[in-house]
Amino acid sequence: MTTVLVIAFVAIAAVLAAAVFAIAYRRGRGIPGDVPGAPRRPGVQRDVLAAPSAAAGADDEAEPIDPLEARTEVGVDEYNVTRRQFFNRAIYGVFGLFLANFGLAGLSYMWPKLSGGFGSKVNAGPLDSIVTQLIADDGRIVPLFIPSAQAYVVPFAGDPAGSSFEDLPVIAGGVMALWQKCVHLGCRVPECDSSQGFECPCHGSKYNYHGEYESGPAPRNLDRFAVTVTDGGELVIDTSQVIQTARSATKTAEYPQGPSCI
Ligand code: FES
Repeated sequence: MTTVLVIAFVAIAAVLAAAVFAIAYRRGRGIPGDVPGAPRRPGVQRDVLAAPSAAAGADDEAEPIDPLEARTEVGVDEYNVTRRQFFNRAIYGVFGLFLANFGLAGLSYMWPKLSGGFGSKVNAGPLDSIVTQLIADDGRIVPLFIPSAQAYVVPFAGDPAGSSFEDLPVIAGGVMALWQKCVHLGCRVPECDSSQGFECPCHGSKYNYHGEYESGPAPRNLDRFAVTVTDGGELVIDTSQVIQTARSATKTAEYPQGPSCI
């Protein structure tokens, strides 16, 4: 979050600096024709009309002065900023601020979350506390759902040798983390307490509680994440990398252990 704010402030400062520079540059040139559509016409200095001379007062018969004839033309350089230029620059400025705002909003939306959320390493909490929640008093497996990791933590007490996830960093502290997303078409797969597995309500794919494929249209096992245990005993789920494993004839958990839920 701090990184995003810093980038946002830097971007806003850059946009404002560019706007100020552009306005200053255009003012420095002082040519109305630089603005699209600005007229290149000479002006009239209305307050510098030729005043009647003192000599004229002496001559009551002198010709009356026609102010239109006596006016002095003013060049475009003396106009400085015209009203049209002012409004053009105001429109450009507002439009630029809108674009900058829109760009920053898009940037913050796309910016990867570098800590704490899904897509990064998620601290699931003390491993000891988690393990005690995974097995009920009657021995049933009770997967623990970790919302910030979008994953189920399940116990793994067996031997992964010969399984489809042998030698992969998916077991630590006697647990695994399974992604909740069905590998068929992406539905959230709930656990089924009675069968002791995961059963997808969308098209009926079934997995045992280690996430191994059992039946249905799913092309592989449930995907899983790498897990580690910190020196302080915290379980960390690395959701930055999805680990896929193929169907395997060698299963590490029994399924079903009771009636199916779907
Ligand atoms: S999305 Fe789960 S079986 Fe189709």
